[in-house]
Amino acid sequence: MLIKTTTHSSCKEHQITDEKVYFERRDMLKKMGFFGAGALLSGTAGASVFDIFSDDQPTAIFKQNALKYSPAGDYNGTLTPEAKVVSHNNFYEFGAQKHQPAELSQGFKVNPWQLKISGEVENPLTLDHDDLYSSFDLEERIYRLRCVEAWSMVVPWIGFSLADLVKKAKPTSKAKYLAFETLHDPQQMPGQRSRRLGGGIDYPYLEGLRIDEAMNPLALMSVGLYGKTLPPQNGAPIRLVVPWKYGFKSIKSVVGIKFVEKQPPTTWNILAANEYGFYANVNPAVDHPRWSQASERRITTGGIFAQNRIATLPFNGYGEEVAGLYSGMNLRKYY
Ligand code: MTE
Repeated sequence: MLIKTTTHSSCKEHQITDEKVYFERRDMLKKMGFFGAGALLSGTAGASVFDIFSDDQPTAIFKQNALKYSPAGDYNGTLTPEAKVVSHNNFYEFGAQKHQPAELSQGFKVNPWQLKISGEVENPLTLDHDDLYSSFDLEERIYRLRCVEAWSMVVPWIGFSLADLVKKAKPTSKAKYLAFETLHDPQQMPGQRSRRLGGGIDYPYLEGLRIDEAMNPLALMSVGLYGKTLPPQNGAPIRLVVPWKYGFKSIKSVVGIKFVEKQPPTTWNILAANEYGFYANVNPAVDHPRWSQASERRITTGGIFAQNRIATLPFNGYGEEVAGLYSGMNLRKYY
């Protein structure tokens, strides 16, 4: 099986409340015949799926195959508590400090939304807000997220394979890369109005993948986490998640995916090319010029600065699935 989670990063802490509630909720919903519609019991962040779908479509946001990636099944590690996943964020459009995105994004409007797929494709398409939840098979995947700043989380995402979207768009033979773009809306995104708040970035935020990376089954377009639609601070209504790469590749609130011939410019690479490469594969052997990447602080039950230090794994532990994409490449040069 290509998509899996591994257990070598599991932490010793006792299961925390959020997680316990999450599992109990899932068990109950499973018994009721719903799967993953955790929003039924509502939490602190994200809209209920029932805000989007009528009651006669309760399973629309989670398809049957969600079970395959269920933590109750093959995952023994500790999830990062939901409260931390939604309050410790990097989303510079809403401020460059970790607490700001949750505070400054709450009025963010995600409906209506349009995600445009364009460029070197036979089938250009536009996905409206509701299409994001209904055009592809949704499933749950528990992935580790490793930030280039050397902290990490374990997050239960909901989403669909980017590969499914690529197949639907039918790339032409010229399509070699995908160029992703975040919404540019300074009225709604204060970090785009103020260079100080927005970390000096020239917006819109841009990212890119090689087409074979985009086709790898691990690459996920996420529309939810912890059984709910994405809260704004985590990239509502749709974001990329590429778990073998540093978190900055996982671009949020995506409005455009363009298939292109040449490697596209990317935000952090434009900002500091010697620190942030296009590939940005998690690599403990290649340090950031200003700090080591050999280990990471896993954010679990302790405070943000609790010392849950663990060794960082090549490709964030997903080497079996993705190392082949880079065979023959010098990963020190293409960092
Ligand atoms: N996407 C946009 N548009 N703007 C951002 O500032 N930050 C990136 C990435 N995607 C960012 C973004 C970084 S640096 C990280 S580590 C992850 O989002 C963080 O995702 P999270 O807040 O859901 O943990």
